[in-house]
Amino acid sequence: MSRLPPDLVIAIDGPVAAGKTTAARLLARRLGYCHIESGAMYRALAWKALKQGSDLSDPVVLVNLLSQTTLELRPTAEGFVVLVDGEDITDVLRSPKMQAAASVLSVHASVREKLVEKQRELGAQGGVVMDGRDIGTVVFPDAAMKFYLTASLDERGRRRFRESSQELGTIETTLEEVAKRDRRDTERVASPLKPAPNAILIDTTLLGPEEVVRQMEAEIHRKFNNSHDISLA
Ligand code: DC
Repeated sequence: MSRLPPDLVIAIDGPVAAGKTTAARLLARRLGYCHIESGAMYRALAWKALKQGSDLSDPVVLVNLLSQTTLELRPTAEGFVVLVDGEDITDVLRSPKMQAAASVLSVHASVREKLVEKQRELGAQGGVVMDGRDIGTVVFPDAAMKFYLTASLDERGRRRFRESSQELGTIETTLEEVAKRDRRDTERVASPLKPAPNAILIDTTLLGPEEVVRQMEAEIHRKFNNSHDISLA
């Protein structure tokens, strides 16, 4: 049997702490594809904006800032590092503060347009698993495979709390923060978070990352074995 084509785009979307990024990283590794975490780009812009004291509610300022910024996602053996103006800020970007700021500035259509352009460039050659909020709906509407991961609010809150309990306070405040981000991401006018009509939904509430990836691989097998007799690596 032949292998999976080397140039597909696989889109993974879903709300905060649904397990997208871990699943995307594992799946990319299994397929020999590159993993691109689009949220890191929004967080990188948030980092620069906070550093400069820019107003997160002003899209003109943010687009201008972006045009003066070199933003690079450089692949490594473990995944990728994020460089802003040459500085490696990968670790700083994981903080809840950056995540919340990214959610705030991602409501602006003009900011999204610029970052979507970059995401399309990065994925243009294919061989990519990209995760985010609008990958299957806006960035790559023709992606070969689209997954939408979700999990209960309680479970997502618990995951966030385990990851960053120090900064987010109690489990209750963490849950509130997750619910607030859900509202902002789903209710914004520009490219709101929602499943693409042809996305495969996976509820990860009771699943670990390995099981999620196993289900994704089974779906990929099903699709490509049916049409092209293609197997995975
Ligand atoms: O994936 P993440 O949780 O790190 O993303 C942080 C924020 O960035 C998220 O709350 C909304 C925004 N985002 C987006 O609007 N579109 C994407 N494709 C990725 C992230």
